[in-house]
Amino acid sequence: MSNISKTNNWDSSLYEDKHAFVWQYGEDLLKLLNPKPGESILDLGCGTGQLTEKIAQAGAEVMGIDYAPTMIEKARQNYPHIRFDVGDARNFQVDKPLDAVFSNAVLHWMKEADSAIASIHQSLKPGGRFVAEFGGSGNVEAIVTALESALEAINIPAQALNPWYFPTIGEYATLLEQQGFDIIHAMLFTRPTPLAEGEAGMANWIQMFASSFLTGLSDEQQIEVIRAVEEHLKPTLYQQGTWRADYRRIRIVAIKL
Ligand code: BEZ
Repeated sequence: MSNISKTNNWDSSLYEDKHAFVWQYGEDLLKLLNPKPGESILDLGCGTGQLTEKIAQAGAEVMGIDYAPTMIEKARQNYPHIRFDVGDARNFQVDKPLDAVFSNAVLHWMKEADSAIASIHQSLKPGGRFVAEFGGSGNVEAIVTALESALEAINIPAQALNPWYFPTIGEYATLLEQQGFDIIHAMLFTRPTPLAEGEAGMANWIQMFASSFLTGLSDEQQIEVIRAVEEHLKPTLYQQGTWRADYRRIRIVAIKL
């Protein structure tokens, strides 16, 4: 993500420095979007704006929105020629109907998927396209399981702390169809994703993206939980000095009927 998240208080510098893989992988999704000169496109959950800028470079009239004011501030600094606004995927309006809505690594933060889909639908022209990638069923399952068991070991019920929605293709396609989209492309694929910063990679990832699991814990408890997670996951997700997160992505292209 880019990040329309439960929290709107992201550390945008940390995100840019240590989690650049988020938009680097998003470049493949841009090929699927195939933006054309003059098209009006929204980058939904634009983060610090790197992919928004690529869409602009293709000659499209693009704007970015993100839930986190810190991300929007940084995006405006990075690319002052592009319009960036704070906005909520579940409830945004556009001035004129769009040719396309693009969204990379954001929609798994939207437990209210129906509201996000309704907003996307109303923002598009008939025939307009929605091109998105996000975490699908089974995404980061090993990490979630390790976090839940580390928390349960200190008597903290963890299930309610999970901030994500990782649907199957069938679930998400059904929601889209119910709201007037035609699905023309959908795939679920695994993408083990290398994390930056060597041995510290998993701890950094948890602190950046999974901090809701640490809510209410003392500093000592947080360290204890992260250590337990690392220990649990090291045999499977840490090789030759690099952590790999067990990502599974959905990629989807849908057309507004
Ligand atoms: C993802 O991009 O799949 C993702 C990112 C952060 C937390 C969970 C999933």
